Amino acid sequence: MILKTPPLGWNSWNTFASNINDQLIRESALAMVESGLKDAGYEYIVIDDCWALKERDENGRMVPDPEKFPEGIRPVADYVHSLGLKFGMYTCVGERTCADYPGSYDHEFIDAASFAEWGVDYLKVDYCFRPRETPGHLLYKRMGTALALCGRDILFSACSWGADNTAEWVKSTGAHIWRSTTDIFDTWESIKKIAMQQTDLQKYSSRGCFNDMDMLVVGMNGKGHVGLTGCTEDEYRLHFSLWALLNSPLMIGCDIRNMPDAIKSIITNKAVIAINQDPSYIMPFMINSHPEHPIWVRMLDNGDFAIGLFNYEDVPVQHHFSIADLGLNRISGKKLELTDLWSGETFTTENFVCRHLEPHSFLLYRGTVKDV
Ligand code: GLA
Repeated sequence: MILKTPPLGWNSWNTFASNINDQLIRESALAMVESGLKDAGYEYIVIDDCWALKERDENGRMVPDPEKFPEGIRPVADYVHSLGLKFGMYTCVGERTCADYPGSYDHEFIDAASFAEWGVDYLKVDYCFRPRETPGHLLYKRMGTALALCGRDILFSACSWGADNTAEWVKSTGAHIWRSTTDIFDTWESIKKIAMQQTDLQKYSSRGCFNDMDMLVVGMNGKGHVGLTGCTEDEYRLHFSLWALLNSPLMIGCDIRNMPDAIKSIITNKAVIAINQDPSYIMPFMINSHPEHPIWVRMLDNGDFAIGLFNYEDVPVQHHFSIADLGLNRISGKKLELTDLWSGETFTTENFVCRHLEPHSFLLYRGTVKDV
């Protein structure tokens, strides 16, 4: 399969970690439909770590924990599919998963066969407990080959956190997305750290294999496994906007069964999701080369521009850019009509845009080129 745009979905880890079961997955799938997330484009329901028994069965197969999944995995997948959604699961290239359940090392083919049989459409593959004698790229190539030959289209999500120069080899493994960061937590510092780490990694992201900036913490509000301090609504909005603009997968991590309206309106902003899902993936570029308050720009398929002004600092900053920075020099006879994708405000410029940004704030525009 060729992955044309980053996947949108929900993953159990950020909030629930090992507290997962059949009922939670079904309720979350139903909530994805009933809350309007499916209509906004969200598609995948992914069970992360801790779904299996601690040991394989006598045939070497992984066994879903019967207390958590009494009917096994297939009926859960069937239910998710019956709602018009896709179904994802989790394993690891090492001997054990990060939470110490069986990993797929030396069982890649038998596990890929199980995942295919259970109706899995998306597989997140972690990097814990790896045997040191086998290089990471080979571990992921093994899993990539097993998935390519399993008889089912499965989105291959490599999760080696950018370690061991992942960026240099991950595209040779067949991965469709790759985790370019260590784990996210529900704090402003974590969002800022990931945001700044991505600056030099944009050249590795492309259609077919997108950089994955980790799951969203929007709406966790300090609750759940990676909950910690929580963030403000504005910080969540910034986080969502940046992940969308830099073409990261948008995998929700909060409890979507109980979302306040303010959170729902962040993750269902269709204009922002449209930037993330723009059909022609063109590499974002930074026009002011300041990693703590960048201006990110991306050309879009119809000739529009997505423009994000960010301030990760604890003090206000003054941002400015010229339409010439986008390639619209004076001789082009063009102007730019900008729409703020959160407030809906529009304005036109023939030269500069200057904006004052408070700490931890941002502006995200879609710009349309018009004749002067
Ligand atoms: C690692 C991954 C996380 C999550 C946990 C599960 O830390 O990076 O996203 O999958 O493992 O144990």
